[in-house]
Amino acid sequence: MFEKITAAPADPILGLTEEFKADTRAKKINLGVGIYKDETGNTPVLATVKKAEAILLEKEKTKSYLSIPGTPEYGLAVQELLFGNDATIITEKRAQTAQAPGGTGALRVAAEFIKRQLGDVKVWISNPTWANHHGVFGAAGLETQQYSYYNAETSDIDFDAAIADLSQASEGDIVLLHGCCHNPTGIDPTTEQWQVLAKLCIEKKLLPMFDFAYQGFARGVEEDAQGLRIFADQLPELLVASSFSKNFGLYNERVGAFTLVGKTAEQAATAFSQVKSIARVIYSNPPAHGAAIVTTILNNAELRAEWEQEVADMRDRIQEMRTLFVTTLKELGVTNDFSFIERQNGMFSFSGLSKDQVTQLKTDFAIYIVGSGRISVAGMTKDNMMPLCKGIAAVL
Ligand code: LMR
Repeated sequence: MFEKITAAPADPILGLTEEFKADTRAKKINLGVGIYKDETGNTPVLATVKKAEAILLEKEKTKSYLSIPGTPEYGLAVQELLFGNDATIITEKRAQTAQAPGGTGALRVAAEFIKRQLGDVKVWISNPTWANHHGVFGAAGLETQQYSYYNAETSDIDFDAAIADLSQASEGDIVLLHGCCHNPTGIDPTTEQWQVLAKLCIEKKLLPMFDFAYQGFARGVEEDAQGLRIFADQLPELLVASSFSKNFGLYNERVGAFTLVGKTAEQAATAFSQVKSIARVIYSNPPAHGAAIVTTILNNAELRAEWEQEVADMRDRIQEMRTLFVTTLKELGVTNDFSFIERQNGMFSFSGLSKDQVTQLKTDFAIYIVGSGRISVAGMTKDNMMPLCKGIAAVL
């Protein structure tokens, strides 16, 4: 029966990781997948994660199932990260959170919820966006539509074009926004632009959905929630997919959350009952360990402070690499202006390298970059900077 099956194309991001792993060249560099690397090129387990795990090992009494949405403590901790401690959304019980297997799991639950409960609405996705967004929403049978986001000439947001495109959206359509550290461009809206976007969603009766995978990597854990909170203050309903892969370094534990905000506590609870029935048929109930780590850290004042410092250290190291990258290219005589890299947030930037240049970097220099030209700055180190920049200088 299987003889009729044709091969699926490799995933543009995770497929590249497979290729990288199979590459036997000694001095290879992976700027593909968004995984944080420290200055030695390793992806460490955060110290606070190790401490939380020690606590859990001590106090864990059972491996019995969690409930479908996970624990209430985790749900509350997630909501406080998103909306702030004592936010009225939380005290009024307008938010409901389901733990999900990673940010992708949260997006998939969201997509299924939209399709089943909100009907044939369109999901507006920035152009460009994370390569998996189209697949996740498409898998739920939803139609996606792109809105402009990036101006290649200025290496900046094309905000007027974004607004012009989103003005074409119909009542009830979903607008997918990146909470911070836009993936792949690293360019986030300004405070004023967030305000304009929120106003547009109110006027056109659009439902905002935030993909929030890098909280803490732009300016700070609280600061990075600013855009979301502008929306939360003004809009009666919204959806959020959170990921804790990056800011807790819990990549392989698959810790995420889907949060739904309703107009009233009652409406939120009713809508959430549908979310539970969706989760039940996909993964039944979530894995416990990663979420227990996140809950333990966030609910312990000392660990929480230490974790915020660890996030700040990751953020600062990436920023340092941004600066070093730009200065090293200059030192090597590259005249192309890469200064925009220093102005962008989070792990990613859009390098402007063409598909051919990306291919040549891989073939000739064992430097791995996503085909779109997205580079993960988090993969740069002081040690690999010179060979990396020499490779880029050569293909330019
Ligand atoms: C990325 O964009 O590199 C990460 O979010 C990892 C992934 O799953 O694609």
